Amino acid sequence: MHLPIDHPALNVRLARSAPPSAGVMGVGVATSGAVPRSVGMNRKVLEQHGFTGARASTLVVPSSSSATVVVVGLGDPDAIDTAVLRDAAAALARAVPGWNHVATNLVDAGVAAGLDAAEAAAAVVEGVRLATYRYLALKKDRSSAPSIDTLTLVVAAKSASAAAQGADRGLVIADAVRLARDLINTPPVHLTATRMAEVAAQVASRSGLGIEVLDEQGLIEANCQGLLNVNRGSTEPARLITLTYRPRNAKGHVALVGKGVMYDSGGISLKPSDGMHAMMKMDMSGAAAVLATMSTVSALGCTSAVTGYLVCTDNMPSGSALKLGDVISYRNGVTAEIHNTDAEGRLILADGLILAAEEKPDAIIDIATLTGACMAALGTKMAGVLGNDQDLVDRVRESSQRVDELVWQLPLHRPYRKLLDSQVADMRNIGGPYAGTITAALFLSEFVGEVPWAHLDIAGPMSSDADDGWLTRGGTGFGTRLLIDVVTHHGRGRSR
Ligand code: BES
Ligand code: MN
Ligand code: ZN
Repeated sequence: MHLPIDHPALNVRLARSAPPSAGVMGVGVATSGAVPRSVGMNRKVLEQHGFTGARASTLVVPSSSSATVVVVGLGDPDAIDTAVLRDAAAALARAVPGWNHVATNLVDAGVAAGLDAAEAAAAVVEGVRLATYRYLALKKDRSSAPSIDTLTLVVAAKSASAAAQGADRGLVIADAVRLARDLINTPPVHLTATRMAEVAAQVASRSGLGIEVLDEQGLIEANCQGLLNVNRGSTEPARLITLTYRPRNAKGHVALVGKGVMYDSGGISLKPSDGMHAMMKMDMSGAAAVLATMSTVSALGCTSAVTGYLVCTDNMPSGSALKLGDVISYRNGVTAEIHNTDAEGRLILADGLILAAEEKPDAIIDIATLTGACMAALGTKMAGVLGNDQDLVDRVRESSQRVDELVWQLPLHRPYRKLLDSQVADMRNIGGPYAGTITAALFLSEFVGEVPWAHLDIAGPMSSDADDGWLTRGGTGFGTRLLIDVVTHHGRGRSR
């Protein structure tokens, strides 16, 4: 099976008016205010046909003489932001999946509402490109693939150059999310840790990154005891993959650490064979988001140095597997007693965090499908964020707002550290029955030293059970756009 998958490209063009070759013209209409003339009917008629302008609703209006018009709802005209445009563009693409060439005025609608043309264009391109994603690599019949291959952004002359630039950015970002989704959706038999390292090497050479891969011997030499121990039950070897981006005169340095559990059976603490277990091929969603982020930094002209660590292994039971009661001695001197082999994510992330902290970056952000508890607390539409530095957590939250990947902060409540106390080691790898997301984060905090650190728990939003806005069913690639926004804003100060 070939990875990374080469999907057909989306050509994005700019024009002053809808080109004749476009079979569809998508026109944004809010819940009040003027209806553009290109719709060919007034609000009253639209309402008679059930269209109120509600956010991301669509009405397809065929024509015997010209392009099909798709009216796309923008909701409250005073609340139009990039998230609204992204969702509107996604709804447009879903309304006409069988067309080849789609034109739209959505960027201009955003500019009219006060948005920056570049940001509006990026959001519209992202919406179309993400909504038309399908994982079809293993299907005989691929006819369900949306056929949109050309998107024309109809924009006024004054917005054209900014829109063109934003469209380029949007394509780079959306294609990164699609790469993450491909990796997440790929069955574990096809995407082992070894294979992940090969894919990362291809991404690195395409994207101008340095790469170093620790194999079995390298992991022993680097004393990566978390990975080595979690990997003990697996026939597939572990890999720790480090990707480096080093622009000239870098303004700062951010380290990203991704949980890459290629398959999480729970180990000796075996998971039940339910639907959740079947989703555990996605337990490498954090590593996928980090690799996807790294694939963009050079193309986006990121001015900060970025290092990405992908910490990859299976978590399997066997005669040689990690046991309850075993103690892991980490490279930074900390010891951890195993009380549940299914709490493996924190065990392997520790290795990545130790290596990252040794480089003394300005910030470390880890991203991991870490706890079912986070899913119980926040549901599937937002990630948990915790950290040892409120300024960094706030920057993550600002990025979250900008890209519409929701996060909610949970407290890194230090008094709960005693829930991790162990009789024989410095700590155990699980806390009590409550606050599982917080105790997991407290475990991780022991490996970052004094470096500002934020932890994203993406167990909830790693997958979606339905097509919804920019999300598609299956692996979502959640966190990719958030991390891209954080690293590209790093060293630029807060807010624009
Ligand atoms: N990968 C799982 C967490 C997870 C669960 C992600 C559901 C996505 C959906 C993680 O390794 C795990 O098994 N966590 C345990 C920790 C517990 C044993 C302390 C959990 O959440 O049950
Ligand atoms: Mn687990
Ligand atoms: Zn896991």
